[in-house]
Amino acid sequence: MRIIRARDYDHMSRQAANIISAQVILKPDSVLGLATGSSPIGVYKQLIEWYKKGDLDFSAVRTVNLDEYVGFGESDAQSYIRFMREQFFDHINIDMRCTNIPNGLNPNAEQECSRYDSVIHALGGIDLQLLGLGPNGHIGFNEPADAFTKGTHRVELSDATIQANKRFFESADAVPRSAYTMGICDIMQAKRTVMVVSGSAKAKIVRDAFFGPVTPRVPASILQLHSDFTLVADEAALEYVK
Ligand code: F6R
Repeated sequence: MRIIRARDYDHMSRQAANIISAQVILKPDSVLGLATGSSPIGVYKQLIEWYKKGDLDFSAVRTVNLDEYVGFGESDAQSYIRFMREQFFDHINIDMRCTNIPNGLNPNAEQECSRYDSVIHALGGIDLQLLGLGPNGHIGFNEPADAFTKGTHRVELSDATIQANKRFFESADAVPRSAYTMGICDIMQAKRTVMVVSGSAKAKIVRDAFFGPVTPRVPASILQLHSDFTLVADEAALEYVK
C-alpha cells in the first residue's frame, strides 16, 4: 500500500488525476474502473481540464463503473449514469458505447449481475480502479458483512449509507434501498487500485480500514492485500495516520 498525503481536496484530486492520466497516456485503450460520489468529482474536473488543453485523449478508453441504484436510469437525476455523464463523460472525447454501468432498470438481478460480470470479463479486466471510501468502510456498495462478496450482486443499502447519501436526495426516504455493485473480487482483480479520501469525517474509517485487521466488517480493509493499491488522502482524512 502506498499513501500519497495531499494538502487538501484539490491537491488530492490533482494527485489522483496524475495517476490516471499517466495510465491513459501509457495505455490509451486502458480499462478504467470509475466511481461516483463527492470524492472523485475533483479528479474528473482535473482530467477534463487536461483533456481540454489537449494533453489527454480518451477516444480509446473503456470504462466500467462500480455501481448503480436499482430502479434508476438515465432519466433519474440521481442515477449514477447521469452523474457520470454530467461530471465526466459529456466533457471528454470518450466513446459512450465503450462506457459501462450496471443497468439499474433491469429488475432481473441475476441476469443483470451476470451480464455485468461478463462485460468486465470481455474487457479483459480492469487496468485501474478508482475508488471512494464509504463512511462505514464500503467500497462500491459492498457493505459491511460476514464475508467478502465475489462478483456483481444486488445489495440492500445499510442505514449508514442511506444516511450518508441522503444529501443527494430530497430526504432519506427518497434514497433507493438497493443497488447493483461490482463485488470485492471484481475490484481486487483490477491491476491497480487508487482510492481518494478527503475530510476529517473519514479519518477514523481510514485508520480502521488501512491500519486495522482485514475484515469483511470493514470491506475496504481488503485493499491492504492488493498488490498495487494507492491511497490518495488529504491531511484531514489522515489525521490518525502519522
Ligand atoms: C460510488 C461508490 C461509493 C462511494 C462512497 C464514498 O460509486 O461506489 O463507494 O465511493 O460511498 O462516497 P463519497 O465520495 O460521496 O463520500
